[in-house]
Amino acid sequence: MSKRINLFAVLVLALMVMFTVSCEGPAGEAGINGTDGADGADGADGADGNVSCLTCHSTDGMDAIDGLFALSGHSAGNYVGYAGSRGSCSRCHSSEGFMDFIAGYDGEDIPYPSAWSCGTCHGSHSSLEEGISAPLQTTAAVTIIEDETTVIDFDGPSNLCANCHQSRRGYAYYAALDSVKIDDVMTAVGAGNVGINSSHAGPHHGPQANTLSGLGGYGTSSTGSHLSAGCVGCHMGDATTTEGGHSFIPNLDNCTAACHSSVTDIATFMAEKQAAVSTRLDAIAAALVTAGALSGDATDGYHPHVSIVTEAQFKAFWNYMVVYEDHSHGVHNPGYFNTLLTTAEANLGL
Ligand code: HEC
Ligand code: HEC
Ligand code: HEC
Ligand code: HEC
Ligand code: HEC
Repeated sequence: MSKRINLFAVLVLALMVMFTVSCEGPAGEAGINGTDGADGADGADGADGNVSCLTCHSTDGMDAIDGLFALSGHSAGNYVGYAGSRGSCSRCHSSEGFMDFIAGYDGEDIPYPSAWSCGTCHGSHSSLEEGISAPLQTTAAVTIIEDETTVIDFDGPSNLCANCHQSRRGYAYYAALDSVKIDDVMTAVGAGNVGINSSHAGPHHGPQANTLSGLGGYGTSSTGSHLSAGCVGCHMGDATTTEGGHSFIPNLDNCTAACHSSVTDIATFMAEKQAAVSTRLDAIAAALVTAGALSGDATDGYHPHVSIVTEAQFKAFWNYMVVYEDHSHGVHNPGYFNTLLTTAEANLGL
């Protein structure tokens, strides 16, 4: 009974549905559009497009850098042929040697060394997102060669320079020699003396990272206020067509802009201070020739002279070499250089 009623109900329902569907009339006209909804919230700004890339990658900008770089000794590579291929020199004297060094291989012989190019100092962008800066091979702090312990950290791009522009030897190396070959005969150094074993003795030609940091000579270390400029603050910074930027030739406008604003003639101001240092260096050199530590004269220049000297004379010799080889004639760290020169003068009785 209930089964029959259920079947009947289903049948009636089905007929009603069929009737309704088959009896639907034609669709009416579409109603008018409703009002627009409220605007959604703005999306976050995307990264700038080519504009930020072109602050560096514009043709004009890159051409200007090429022009300045052509003025640099790095570009000329005057000593690449002489020192760039040798294992003990290549990390500082050829592009390939430096890149091997950055990759973790020091002391590599380089068969065909070349001078610096853009890629010697610049690598690839590791990220093109926020705060894009010029990619550099390294900005890491540098453990100095002189004692393989002290760390120099200019906190940024100048650390790149410090890898090469630092002393290769400290005075401790010479102070520890117990014999020196003079006129092909090994001669014992003897207590209280120090041996100068080569006409190339000294910190080597570019101890600037050490001197700026108040390191490398005999006398109380003092860092001085130029330390905060690193190397690039003076040697790069603002550029003209002949100075600063990638010429690496100091643009003296950087000195007045950053600190020496009260100096009206910065070139004369600097030249006077450099001349005073040179005068003191010349007097020390003359006394060191008498002591046997240097050979040469004021006209042709001075060189280390293979010899055995007293400790006091050696300290004077060493300080002379540091100030001379720094090549800034005292600019890099005036207070420290004054200490080194004063120590040298006192030790030579000047
Ligand atoms: C790979 C080692 C290396 C690096 C890195 C390096 N230099 Fe040099 N630099 C040298 C050598 C070697 C010379 C001598 C160049 C020659 O004539 O062969 C030199 C020469 C110079 C000179 C002498 C003037 C000239 O034009 O000859 C200045 C100034 C200088 N470098 C500054 C810098 C500064 C600043 C930096 C960092 C931005 C830097 N260097 C990075 C090795 C290096
Ligand atoms: C730690 C880095 C470094 C190493 C290693 C090095 N040099 Fe240099 N050398 C320099 C720098 C930097 C200069 C440029 C300094 C300057 O202009 O004040 C330079 C300059 C020179 C000069 C020019 C000298 C002058 O009077 O201007 C000669 C020559 C030279 N080096 C030869 C050599 C030889 C040979 C070796 C290997 C036995 C060697 N260097 C190893 C960094 C280095
Ligand atoms: C001796 C190392 C060295 C060499 C070689 C070098 N650069 Fe640089 N470059 C630097 C350093 C260091 C900076 C960063 C300067 C700063 O932060 O003040 C820099 C910055 C730059 C910048 C950023 C903008 C500016 O002017 O500071 C550009 C672009 C650039 N270099 C392009 C080049 C090109 C192109 C070459 C080859 C012609 C080149 N560099 C060769 C060391 C070098
Ligand atoms: C602060 C200066 C600077 C800015 C900004 C900059 N670059 Fe560079 N870029 C450099 C320098 C310097 C080099 C190395 C040049 C060389 O070695 O010849 C370089 C190299 C490159 C290279 C070739 C090497 C590599 O990394 O593969 C590309 C591609 C490049 N940049 C793309 C860009 C793009 C895209 C942007 C913008 C999103 C940008 N750069 C912004 C300075 C800059
Ligand atoms: C306070 C500014 C200043 C700082 C910081 C500075 N320099 Fe200098 N540097 C100079 C001046 C100025 C000279 C002398 C230029 C002259 O006499 O024409 C000089 C000379 C040099 C020379 C000799 C140039 C030549 O033509 O023989 C080298 C190499 C050098 N500096 C490298 C460096 C390095 C590497 C650093 C960082 C460790 C550095 N400087 C830091 C200003 C500075």
